[in-house]
Amino acid sequence: MAKPNKKKPAKPAKGLKTSYPYYLANRPVAANTELEVLDKYTGKRATRVAMADAAAVRKAIVAAHKAREAMAAFTPDRRRDVLEHCVRRFSERFEELALALCIEAGKPIKDARGEVTRLIDTFRIAAGEATRIDGQIIELQISERTRGYRGMVKRVPIGPCSFITPFNFPLNLVAHKVAPAIAAGCPFVLKPAIKTPVGALIIAEVLAETDLPEGAFSVLCCSNEDASLLVEDERIKLLSFTGGLIGWDLKARSGKKKVTLELGGNAACIVDADPGVSLDHVVERLVFGAYYQSGQSCISVQRIYAHADIYDKLRKKLKAAIGALRMGDPRVDTTFIGPVVDEDAAKRIQSWIDAAVKGGARRINGGAREGNMIPATLLEKVPLDADLYRKEVFGPVALIEPFDDFDSALAQVNRSDFGLQAGVFTGRLDHAMKAWDVLDVGGVIVGDVPSFRVDNMPYGGVKDSGLGREGVRYAIEDMSEQRLLVIRDAVA
Ligand code: SIN
Repeated sequence: MAKPNKKKPAKPAKGLKTSYPYYLANRPVAANTELEVLDKYTGKRATRVAMADAAAVRKAIVAAHKAREAMAAFTPDRRRDVLEHCVRRFSERFEELALALCIEAGKPIKDARGEVTRLIDTFRIAAGEATRIDGQIIELQISERTRGYRGMVKRVPIGPCSFITPFNFPLNLVAHKVAPAIAAGCPFVLKPAIKTPVGALIIAEVLAETDLPEGAFSVLCCSNEDASLLVEDERIKLLSFTGGLIGWDLKARSGKKKVTLELGGNAACIVDADPGVSLDHVVERLVFGAYYQSGQSCISVQRIYAHADIYDKLRKKLKAAIGALRMGDPRVDTTFIGPVVDEDAAKRIQSWIDAAVKGGARRINGGAREGNMIPATLLEKVPLDADLYRKEVFGPVALIEPFDDFDSALAQVNRSDFGLQAGVFTGRLDHAMKAWDVLDVGGVIVGDVPSFRVDNMPYGGVKDSGLGREGVRYAIEDMSEQRLLVIRDAVA
């Protein structure tokens, strides 16, 4: 059972403002209707944000459509300057951003600071990419018919984009859409998660300090119903969505636009008989991967497959390490397990744990839910048809299962509707290469957990986990079209 963390938070440097406007065509708008944003730990109101209605969404799309030429003409060095301005301002506002995350998402302050660091990384990567959107020379002279023809391709912005982002990384998953859009020269309309909109609104506040062309960006907190236009309006050329399986329904409604989806998974990690590193290190990484920010990450470790030779030892070490995690106020530096996003989520997670236990699973770690606090939980013998096995739990819960040979472990990882990332601890190069060949996922992480991500690597999944890749330059590829130029040499 996780230990309660009774330490008091260090006095926060700065809190949230009493209210935040939304941003329509680069400008702040205070609306009559406001939404309360709760402190996810205390359950009390933390701040209010202005709510946009369908008319505001329509205006934002019109403004983005109008801005498409100005954004395309906004030169790469100016796009880079905007992104560098953001890097500077986020660095100056570092603690404020971390505290906002800690309050609105209930994210332990250490994880919140980690996310602000990644936000800065993502904008810095985009600043670099903005002046590196290169073209290609195509050799067209492939036969007599084509002599004297030259081919060239450049990338041009796709046009207005719409972005819908989730609650679990209120800054960095916004950054993964906004920063590439600026680098690529695309205007955009963003709808942040309404449970955690503050991070996106602070990003908008910083963007409003720049000379981005009018209409280049809108950040609107609105209902899903009012956001329909972001999915359906034909003036939008790309929809990028991160969230749950509902993304597939959005794609079905999206008409002719390009769609990228990042929809999560039930990530697995294999621990081979010889993991290649000490089991203590494996345990430290598994505990991080399964329980950081209470498992509310699309690449949180949910399934651990351990070789039978080390199963008992690993299980014992995990039990001790999980039992030592501190649960409590996310503002306290030593807190590892904070709240999940709300009580409904906590009840659902608890019901999946209970159903698995009823179906024969054995609890190694865990305990009773208190409100939206769920103790770090580890189970074994979870039935294959349990929700906890098959679906994305998005909570501080993992299962462990033994395997006898590496091939069967690979098959167990692939026995999932999802395929985002997988982790493999092995000391054998042939096993590492085979995992890379065989695992049906977007990324294989050898020597670490699937939860590892650097913000410039291609990130995305296969199967139900989604379509397309983020990681700045991969998103820029999606946010641009190839435009061919053919020149015929003068004919004498
Ligand atoms: C996600 O939950 O989709 C993002 C995970 C990460 O960026 O680390």
